[in-house]
Amino acid sequence: MKERIPIASDHAGFELKNDLVEYLRQLGYEPEDLGAHGPESVDYPDYGRKVAREVVSGAAKRGVVVCGTGIGVSIAANKVHGARAALCTNVFMAEMARRHNDANILALGGRVLSPEAARPILKTWLETPFEGGRHSRRIQKIADIENEPGC
Ligand code: RB5
Repeated sequence: MKERIPIASDHAGFELKNDLVEYLRQLGYEPEDLGAHGPESVDYPDYGRKVAREVVSGAAKRGVVVCGTGIGVSIAANKVHGARAALCTNVFMAEMARRHNDANILALGGRVLSPEAARPILKTWLETPFEGGRHSRRIQKIADIENEPGC
């Protein structure tokens, strides 16, 4: 069965998101396009939140968010407990986001990256496993922050 991958963007990430939906299909995944569905101005927190909730609920294992810089959607997604959204601007960051940070959400900037630059970043992030070991302890410490009073 094909892995379902939720993906969403605001207007500034709309074109890159559409390209990546097609690319995910080519790679053999089943992208679920959670919007935006047109180029009209929308608010990026709504889309970061949507994908993060899909992932954290267990409905999907991982997801992709896109806005103009990738910053806004990554901040919004990371407000959802259990989300580990990583903003990546190159292949090395995508590799490390998986190997060391076990990032379950990839954030990209549609005004930062061309589709040609974004595609290998996405592919690397999809194909790189988490290393575990000492990195698991650090991931657990991130989760512990979410359970601190006031968080
Ligand atoms: C929208 O103009 C822009 O602010 C948004 O896409 C994103 O870059 C925010 O971080």
